[in-house]
Amino acid sequence: MIKLDYTFMTDGAVEGAISDSALASATDSFAVGHSSVMQRWKSGELGFFDLPDDKTALAECTELAEAAQRRGVEDVVVLGIGGSGLGPVALRTALLPTAWNSLSRQQREERPRLHVLDNVDPVTIGALLDRLDLSTALFIVTSKSGGTAETMAQYLVARGRLDAAGFSARHHFVFVTDPEKGALRKIAGEEGIPAATVPPNVGGRFSVLSPVGLLPAAMTGIDTGGLLAGAADMRERCRSVTWSSNPGGAFAVLQWLADSQLGRRLHVFMPYADGLRDMAAWFVQLWAESLGKITPNGRHVGPTPIASLGATDQHSQVQLFMEGPNDKTVTFLRVADGGFDLTIPALHKDVPDLAYLGGHSLGELLAVEQRATAGALAARGRMNMTLTLDRLDAWHIGGLIMLLEIGTALAGELYGVNAFDQPGVELGKRFTYGMFGRPGFEADQVAFERLPKPDSKKQA
Ligand code: PA5
Repeated sequence: MIKLDYTFMTDGAVEGAISDSALASATDSFAVGHSSVMQRWKSGELGFFDLPDDKTALAECTELAEAAQRRGVEDVVVLGIGGSGLGPVALRTALLPTAWNSLSRQQREERPRLHVLDNVDPVTIGALLDRLDLSTALFIVTSKSGGTAETMAQYLVARGRLDAAGFSARHHFVFVTDPEKGALRKIAGEEGIPAATVPPNVGGRFSVLSPVGLLPAAMTGIDTGGLLAGAADMRERCRSVTWSSNPGGAFAVLQWLADSQLGRRLHVFMPYADGLRDMAAWFVQLWAESLGKITPNGRHVGPTPIASLGATDQHSQVQLFMEGPNDKTVTFLRVADGGFDLTIPALHKDVPDLAYLGGHSLGELLAVEQRATAGALAARGRMNMTLTLDRLDAWHIGGLIMLLEIGTALAGELYGVNAFDQPGVELGKRFTYGMFGRPGFEADQVAFERLPKPDSKKQA
């Protein structure tokens, strides 16, 4: 079960929080937004809703994973950026045993190690390529568009190494990309490189339940069927047109009201579980790239998401959340049953600073600290809500992903923006292409050259 407790978002519990009348007034806007999202789903525009039912993709990923295991693949390296990198990382951290890559092959049940390269920093990439045994490495090149500069550059570097060592691309690459468009699909067709499909109506940050996330998950033995089943269950719960009984709807409405009516423009996402650390990074991209937009009437909107981690960041960011500007909401994410615990030994009974801990457990301390932080924020008029997963398993992670994706789609409607495009990132890409001399981007190079140059008098 996944539960959203929003008591501390409301005025009855937290002074100055969302009033009953504001909550009531959201009913109609939500119904309109919900109907629009359902309509866009039915018309085939929002393919992420259908991913839990895509048995073909699941079978394709399972087959590719079995083939890799038969061939004795030791290292799977995902090359991808944005949604193509963050999704696999979030699944890896949440669902694989801690320090997976350090376990022996036997401890990994004959499954490969998993590396995700989501940047073009030569130091990181060079270090990994130097230490990999290329003969047992498989590179999953993930790009929906099949042409993203960073991912293509990573591919070319990896390909160069494999070619130089005389390894065949067909055996060492799998592409995950659009069914027809883009450079990757073309190369796959020409060279017989296996390629899994990202449906054309699924955008990068909504793609983790497609082969983008499923393939690395299947390779490492994550319960992919469980992921999809949990997502399907949540999709059903989010069909409700009443926001308060719709987990994705409640998340969207409360965050939108907090931002648009009460100026809580910053949205902190704070898991209390190391396994969920990278879910926060994944959520940050989903929320930021989907909602930071210009509305049709020219308004700049969009909450700023912030990733945090409890209890670690109680000693870093919570001072700001408690006493800094009251412009934030905090969404806590907790796991009711962590599945493993460590008792704190009752040592140093004569040292009061330690003695009170003895006999409790670390899991208990983590849980109590989360409740204490939520309560302390509420006591200072700081709005917060808590998402609880009963357990940290594939079913709950699938459900959480679907909740946040649907919540983001609904929030897009409430903000009056299209949550599924990202026009704002184009200009930087065009300037890069121009400076790299890519044909067709000559005007962008000129435009970049016309920008003000660094002024030597303004350097400290
Ligand atoms: O959400 C998005 O659409 C983007 O963040 C993409 O995931 C990112 O730009 C990578 O794109 P692609 O998968 O086409 O390489």
